[in-house]
Amino acid sequence: MPDKSTSSKATATTATETPQAPAVPRKIYPIVKYGDPILEKPGAGVTKFDSELEELAEDMFASMYAAQGVGLAAPQIGKSMRFAVVDVTGGKNPEAKIILANPEVTHAEGEVREEEGCLSIPGFRGYVIRPQFVTVKAQNVKGEPFEIRGENMLARAFCHEIDHLNGILFLQHLGMLKRDLIKRKIKKLRKQGEW
Ligand code: NI
Repeated sequence: MPDKSTSSKATATTATETPQAPAVPRKIYPIVKYGDPILEKPGAGVTKFDSELEELAEDMFASMYAAQGVGLAAPQIGKSMRFAVVDVTGGKNPEAKIILANPEVTHAEGEVREEEGCLSIPGFRGYVIRPQFVTVKAQNVKGEPFEIRGENMLARAFCHEIDHLNGILFLQHLGMLKRDLIKRKIKKLRKQGEW
């Protein structure tokens, strides 16, 4: 998921806010951009739930916050695996951090049409219809199964990230005209060495 537009007022740090500095320095991964085939192939299931996976999850959160995103899927950092992180508060609430290993949507309800973007397709947005409510079945970083329900923006983030794990980008949900327009613009940027 993309940047979440918030006003500077809302993000201003106040004196009472608890600092959320990470205990250890985190690896900030560069984000893979549209055009890299890894983004358009399904990831492999996560089978190893070890400390390495826990490190990866924290590095992905750090990379996502650095890019001002609200969701990040492993293929976007060059790892073709069914693993993603989501935090629709953008790091403001540690309890909002969600790690999804091998996630699947088990129930979807309603429809919301809202503008969406992607860290792998920076600078472009488009309206995508997503369910208003979803239930997602996944495993946590220790491999324990859990279910989580998301509404509106969280439901959108879950669907967007799970799409990534299936090699699907939000462009595929756009109308043909809008999609082709974005693809042409990206092609032009690539020729100019700006992509
Ligand atoms: Ni994305």
